[in-house]
Amino acid sequence: MTKITKKSFGTLTDGTKVSLFELKNSSGAYVEIIDFGGAIRSIVVPDRDGNLGDIALGYDDAKGYEKQDKYIGALIGRHGNRIEDASFKIGRRKYTLAKNDGRNSLHGGIKGFDKVMWKAEVDGESLVLKYLSKDGEEGFPGNLSVTVKYRFSDDNELSIDYAAECDQDTVCNLTNHCYFNLNGQGSGDILDHEMKICASHFTVGNSECLPTGYVAKVEGTPLDFTEPHVIGERINDKHEQLLFGHGYDHNFCPDGEGFRLMAEVYSEKTGRTMQVYSDLPGIQFYSGNALNSLPPAGKGGRIINRREGLCLETQFYPNALKHRNFAQPILKKGEKYRHVTVYRFGTK
Ligand code: BGC
Repeated sequence: MTKITKKSFGTLTDGTKVSLFELKNSSGAYVEIIDFGGAIRSIVVPDRDGNLGDIALGYDDAKGYEKQDKYIGALIGRHGNRIEDASFKIGRRKYTLAKNDGRNSLHGGIKGFDKVMWKAEVDGESLVLKYLSKDGEEGFPGNLSVTVKYRFSDDNELSIDYAAECDQDTVCNLTNHCYFNLNGQGSGDILDHEMKICASHFTVGNSECLPTGYVAKVEGTPLDFTEPHVIGERINDKHEQLLFGHGYDHNFCPDGEGFRLMAEVYSEKTGRTMQVYSDLPGIQFYSGNALNSLPPAGKGGRIINRREGLCLETQFYPNALKHRNFAQPILKKGEKYRHVTVYRFGTK
């Protein structure tokens, strides 16, 4: 049985009050989520000796989340990841977005879903967050109403259930940008974590981390995580994909379809494990290459350094709108967007 309690989490610079919700299960493990950006602020789960530790990067107050530009913990929308040339077409109509990543659009624009206030409600054991993204917001068509349900179960499963509907044809590709460190946030980098990704293929990126449309085998490359590998083992290989990404920053194509295991992470040091399941087509493994030691300071006033967290963002393939061979993140008027991602925490 999970209990949800609400606390104050400070204010934004314009005085808006931000709340924090603690989802605590019967074992005492808990997850904290805030209504600004719908961000996961903490994930406190046991190591192999039963000691609780916080494995999510984050900030001490609302202003940290307002200032940050690394999307730490946040919900991402209306379109997670990149859209080439910051424009796309639906039918014959062309839509233009802000270029917030070179010439491209990244993670929903200048003020994406990570920088808005969500309306939070507790519904039994779920925390329900709602946001209405107005027609034209960040250049996207249609009034998109989004509902994200967070749940944290007694067996330490954090599930994120994404639902959306729009009154016009639009694009919709929602994800969460939590940075995990199974040794505990603030304890150094994630290079010693063992990673397994259940994907025999990945989408080849260019120097801007934009998929070119080509889907290649991981076999024989440092992106082959079909058997577990320590992240640091090959991250500095002079492989073009790693040079382009400044490390791992790639979309993988998990084998199979529907709800399935996509990735497993393990820290030998603490014994913590994390499994990621989703029904989405892709997963971005990002090794926190751009966490570049800049303010705002993270939890406890400590500056966050390079590769101190890793992201596993479930998604439609990036830049799919420019590659019709990829599943399209198009949500038609009146249709329902519904996807689910589960992060399961354990030890071994
Ligand atoms: C992207 C990275 C980007 C990061 C921003 C990730 O999802 O793949 O390229 O730098 O988000 O924090």
